[in-house]
Amino acid sequence: MEVILLGATGSIGTSALEVVKKQPDKFRITAISANRNIDSLLKIALEFRVPKVIVTDKNAPGIEKLKELDDAEIFTGIEAAADICATDSAGIVLNAVVGSAGYLPTKRALLSGKTVALANKETMVSYGEVINQILAAGKGRIIPVDSEHSAVFQLLENKKKEELEKIILTASGGPLRNHRDPANATVEEVLRHPTWNMGSKITVDSASLANKGLEVIEAARLFNVDSSKIDVIVHPSSVIHSFVELKDGSIVAQLAHPDMKLPIQYALNYPRRQNRQIKRLSLRDVSPLEFFDPDKEKFPLLSYAYEALDTGGTMPAVFNAVNEEAVSLFLGKKIKFGEINTLVRRTMDLHKAVSAEENAILEADKWARKQILIYSEKT
Ligand SMILES: NC(=O)c1ccc[n+]([C@@H]2O[C@H](COP(=O)([O-])OP(=O)(O)OC[C@H]3O[C@@H](n4cnc5c(N)ncnc54)[C@H](OP(=O)(O)O)[C@@H]3O)[C@@H](O)[C@H]2O)c1
Repeated sequence: MEVILLGATGSIGTSALEVVKKQPDKFRITAISANRNIDSLLKIALEFRVPKVIVTDKNAPGIEKLKELDDAEIFTGIEAAADICATDSAGIVLNAVVGSAGYLPTKRALLSGKTVALANKETMVSYGEVINQILAAGKGRIIPVDSEHSAVFQLLENKKKEELEKIILTASGGPLRNHRDPANATVEEVLRHPTWNMGSKITVDSASLANKGLEVIEAARLFNVDSSKIDVIVHPSSVIHSFVELKDGSIVAQLAHPDMKLPIQYALNYPRRQNRQIKRLSLRDVSPLEFFDPDKEKFPLLSYAYEALDTGGTMPAVFNAVNEEAVSLFLGKKIKFGEINTLVRRTMDLHKAVSAEENAILEADKWARKQILIYSEKT
């Protein structure tokens, strides 16, 4: 099976390469991308003998080093990544890009009939309705890679839609769950995640519960349910990746050692199961399993995400875009952690949502980012 791996240099990308390495007879990587990390991209291209290498940031420093790759074609820009997703002979695209930049390649891959193993949750949050129209037209398919959605996908196999009562997404609670003053948490505190080792953007989102909010919207889009069918429960050890409650009162769960290699391996091999690549989960070692309600007052972004989902149209894209920009300011130490909430709230209040056409979403996304620029210039 030929695979395109977008975001190859990231946390998911690295886990995906480990999965592929364990099944050398099954997978061949035909294209990889990174945004700016040329040294890692070069290393991966050489190790996996990748014929197409994409740098999405055309101004990435050190890009000329890629000339070293005698046998590979070099491409630049997210549009090139999208073109390759549309035209390459690969059957599957693993999209592990961070942020809404992941939309275009996903769209083009689906339109060309490919399977997208989707880690990039921002695509479904901002453009979920557009993507669902493509899928409804019978083009391509998505296998979720986000661990919670992979769990729900597995749990809903062979179930009818009317049998579903609730999707219950688990949340680790993040590094600030017991922090006394999260609004003033430092970048270092926020990046110290207790259970998952992930890229910096998703780690910040995990601390603010924006990540769970994004996942609520992602779940609504992937499984075609409204917000009343999705609950969130804090489960600090992260061994239960999610639950599904069925109409007869059964609650079923998917458990595994928290390691993204499992949902990646599952998505790439779907519908087959392969031998375990992750640590075995010993139930004795993880008991007792704990559950708490999320603290929505301390971490309001979860409620804002529900609100964005209920408002619909362009509001989820605004929620996502303003959050992306605010997280980037926080990581650059330009704003306090608590200001992420303020900026999302203020921008959502200013936005007049319209229906979720592609161009309207693009405009809303741009508009939301501009609000942050205006704010950061003022402060
Ligand atoms: N990490 C996890 O455990 C996890 C779990 C579930 C879902 N996810 C989702 O998976 C996605 C990737 O997460 P991650 O943690 O792997 O992120 P990450 O470690 O930050 O890696 C992101 C990847 O995307 C590339 N990239 C960055 N900005 C880009 C842009 N503007 N256009 C195109 N490519 C860009 C990066 O290239 P450079 O290296 O050159 O910057 C890198 O290859 C996110 O949507 C996240 O929410 C992650």
